Amino acid sequence: VLGNGDSGPGDRPPIPEEIAELTDPSNRIDPYPLLNKLRDRSPYSPFDGLVVVGRHAQTSEVLRDPTMSAARDKATISPTARGPRTRNFLHLDPPEHTRYRRLVSGAFARRKMESLAPQIRENATELLRSGAASGTIDVIEDLAYPLPLRMICELLGVPYEDRDRIKDWSAILAESLDPQFGASAGRMTRETARARAAFVGYFRDLVELRRAEPREDLISHLLQAEVDGEQLDDSDILATCVLLLNAGHETTANLIGNAILALLRHPEQYERLRADPTLAAATVEEVLRYDAPVQMTARVARQPGTIGDTELRPGDTILLLIGAANRDPDVYPDPARFDIDRVHGTPHLAFSAGAHFCLGAPLARLEATIALELFGTLMREPRLRPDGVAYKPNLNLRGLARLPVDVDGVG
Ligand code: HEM
Repeated sequence: VLGNGDSGPGDRPPIPEEIAELTDPSNRIDPYPLLNKLRDRSPYSPFDGLVVVGRHAQTSEVLRDPTMSAARDKATISPTARGPRTRNFLHLDPPEHTRYRRLVSGAFARRKMESLAPQIRENATELLRSGAASGTIDVIEDLAYPLPLRMICELLGVPYEDRDRIKDWSAILAESLDPQFGASAGRMTRETARARAAFVGYFRDLVELRRAEPREDLISHLLQAEVDGEQLDDSDILATCVLLLNAGHETTANLIGNAILALLRHPEQYERLRADPTLAAATVEEVLRYDAPVQMTARVARQPGTIGDTELRPGDTILLLIGAANRDPDVYPDPARFDIDRVHGTPHLAFSAGAHFCLGAPLARLEATIALELFGTLMREPRLRPDGVAYKPNLNLRGLARLPVDVDGVG
């Protein structure tokens, strides 16, 4: 969600040591000591054109500031070589952004999402039962990944049989959201461009099918939708489809995985949830704060200004460390403590804030809440296999590749 692989700092300026350290895969297990250091130092500019912000108040302020642009390609440090541009509305500014967002926001309204609860419940039950049948469930492969993927495919009208192709493209696009430096930058740009082209080609065929024979799905709805009396052109529809499909499953998979890991590492909290499944929604909020599935985003300054004592020039990229802001001790007492009873006075920033606040938040919350509730009710004596836990390489879309859990059957 940071950008389309072209939003991170380019490969020309020197890499500040502490940011290079963040990108080191050995820091995936626990990036928080480093994020805390970066937050405490922030706001600061490691080199011309980049300002790092990690305090909650300043991160929140930048996200809500209308003088900040979400169009990453306007940044002075934006890499020059990049794949084909897509106009997904994550990267548009108002008023254009407002018009596009309005088109799809109705489809993701909280009330509409709640009507999906029975179907989410049915899918999650089936996934948990078949996953646990062998005595060991891989929470990622068996539940966290397929549940949101099935639901977003169904909403969009994407045949679930195509999931393997979608998984491969999505994994490449998810990795491309990390800041890219040095030699890996060129390789990622080429791989990303190929994956994006394949994704767009896939949707182009599907859009043609729906144009010929509309159904009750989001693609058919987008084809009929109008912005100020004008229909969306095909490239806007394709960009929106890729955005929704991607944003709609990788992130939620990470949330569910991060949640179950945190719970199994805190057995007393897991026991509270198991005894009272109505705590599932509060648990989801605490996981979003404690281990944010989207760790960072960026904005570009349109006007000269300051953040704290740090000067901003037009075109400066502001790297916003959501994962660090969510553990800011000025806002959350004892921030490294996972506490499902925590009272969140100030909202966390896991879904961003302001004009680009996550459109899929109601769906993500609902899926994760149901997944946790059912995990607690159905899994008998779940035991983490610590040696099997592995993280994906991604820095920004933080999540697990594997989370094996032994169980004594299904309740
Ligand atoms: C935007 C996080 C799930 C669709 C965002 C942003 C964040 C985010 C941080 C804003 C980035 C920015 O301000 O630069 C998450 C997390 C999720 C999640 C943590 C799961 C736990 C979903 C789902 C969908 C979705 C399930 C769709 C079905 C979108 C869209 C935007 C967005 C369309 C762009 C909104 C705009 O630009 O106006 N998300 N997201 N997200 N998200 Fe999510």
